Amino acid sequence: MRNLLALAAAALAGIVVLAPTASALPKVSRAGKYLYTEDGNRFFIKGIAYQTQGLIVPGPDNPLNQPSTFVDNLADAAACARDLPNLQKLGINAIRAYAANSSLNHDECMQALSSAGIYVIRDVCSYFIALNGSIDTTLPAWSTNTLDQYLRTIDAFEKYDNILAYNIGNEVITPKATQSPPFIAAAARDIRAYLNSISSSALVGYAAIDGAASFVLNEANFLACSATGSIDLFGLNNYECSEFGSENCNPAPRVWTEIPVMFSEPMTNVWSGGLAFSYFGAISKGHEFGMAVPSSDGTSVTTNADFDNPRGQVQRRHVCQRPREERVDARAAGVTPDDAACGCLANELSCVFQPPTPDYMALVGNLIGVACGLVQTAGGTCDDISSDGVKGTYGRLAMCDPTIKLSYVMSQYYELQHRVNTACSFRGNATINANAKPNLLASAAASSCIPSAAVFTPSAPPVLIPGAGAKTNTTSAGNAPGGSTTGGANCNPPVGLGKAQTKSVQGSLQRKSASP
Ligand SMILES: *[C@@H]1O[C@H](CO)[C@@H](O)[C@H](O)[C@H]1NC(C)=O
Ligand SMILES: *[C@@H]1O[C@H](CO)[C@@H](O)[C@H](O)[C@H]1NC(C)=O
Ligand SMILES: *[C@@H]1O[C@H](CO)[C@@H](O)[C@H](O)[C@H]1NC(C)=O
Ligand SMILES: *[C@@H]1O[C@H](CO)[C@@H](O)[C@H](O)[C@H]1NC(C)=O
Repeated sequence: MRNLLALAAAALAGIVVLAPTASALPKVSRAGKYLYTEDGNRFFIKGIAYQTQGLIVPGPDNPLNQPSTFVDNLADAAACARDLPNLQKLGINAIRAYAANSSLNHDECMQALSSAGIYVIRDVCSYFIALNGSIDTTLPAWSTNTLDQYLRTIDAFEKYDNILAYNIGNEVITPKATQSPPFIAAAARDIRAYLNSISSSALVGYAAIDGAASFVLNEANFLACSATGSIDLFGLNNYECSEFGSENCNPAPRVWTEIPVMFSEPMTNVWSGGLAFSYFGAISKGHEFGMAVPSSDGTSVTTNADFDNPRGQVQRRHVCQRPREERVDARAAGVTPDDAACGCLANELSCVFQPPTPDYMALVGNLIGVACGLVQTAGGTCDDISSDGVKGTYGRLAMCDPTIKLSYVMSQYYELQHRVNTACSFRGNATINANAKPNLLASAAASSCIPSAAVFTPSAPPVLIPGAGAKTNTTSAGNAPGGSTTGGANCNPPVGLGKAQTKSVQGSLQRKSASP
């Protein structure tokens, strides 16, 4: 009756035998379209999403039901200790964690998981980190702020032996918004270069939204074959009833009948496991998921039928489809975001954005629209800050932080208005930069600060918030600053999503977004 459990337990035991708990977990690497451990055996991800859902405040300004707070579960040592026995009962060998605060300490959780033979698929994108957290669906960019956010997360986790993969995007590309793939490819290129530069063997993953086979296959092929940068793991957030973690079985306990299918041929010819959705409760589109409910004080946890169901043992399948030939990538991707170049420019701009409130991020998008409209009316263009992944055209500032883009456009307008003081106000959102060189035009500053085109290995960004050694407290949700300026960010945590399963092309990721 516990066939699945036995399968999972056996696999886990195999890992343990090879690598006693005192030593590091075996390295998992990708060769062709499969994952392998160092002994040459294929590695299958048998995982579960381990992420508390943040607070969702529904409303017209939150069409995707994105949570407004996030929890860094791997910073909560007590909760990890509480949950570890359950994760071990499930027989899993991996978890996926969606939201991280790189300034917190993750030692205890990560080490406990490692000792239990559990790898971590770490999302480095997070919708909650307003504006910086993810490549946006509808207004995609690959810019310094997002690159830095990703690198800070990698820096905080790279010391652990059980990092299996870093997930650089979640459901960014959708059937209706397909302009973001070149930006994801650029992110894959730069993150891969960074991982190589720090001798990391972690894999690079992407979790896709479910859709028609033609859409998903094209997407997987593009991401796996892009000449710019390709991913190792393609996860598919998939939720059909007859499959893994179906939402449509609600409210009845899920039966997990997809598990034996996913872990046998012919599925294993394609997939390398999967991640069930979800350990913690999550609500999406009226469905409820989750196997475990923590008590109000967080000290204990109660499991439900989804957990107890023998077939509910979490497993995963991941599919690795990496065509060998590097297909021609017609769409060039942008350059590597360059903090030094963008910072140089910021210092030279004549009129700069002055954030009126600490949570100014939500304002930036609106103000860029306003300022661009004014510049265009005055005969200028916003081409320098724009990018078009479909045409493969990138303005020279496309890689800069949105606040620098905004200051640039404000400066252009101010200069077009012959520097009259009133042209650098934007209702109190801008101020004249007294340190800028007199009469230097924004466009000339861009020419001197920004190299024509550069792809390079990014280096570690400065740590944002000191105190990385601080004791962590995971029960409290972090504050999420404002919302995305564009409203389409996509790396939401598992939160609100709804389903339970994922498959991947090279590894797997899972989860579904709250989006309709
Ligand atoms: C976003 O990134 C920029 C540039 O790295 C940084 O200055 C800013 O503090 C970040 N914002 C948040 C909320 O992390
Ligand atoms: C800044 O811009 C926003 C959006 O246009 C506007 O509502 C606000 O009044 C402006 N000024 C300040 C100080 O926020
Ligand atoms: C964790 O944070 C919550 C909310 O801020 C607080 O109530 C709780 O006392 C904290 N727990 C610890 C152990 O610091
Ligand atoms: C990350 O944690 C630090 C330290 O507790 C806190 O100051 C900061 O606000 C957190 N960041 C986010 C985005 O929640």
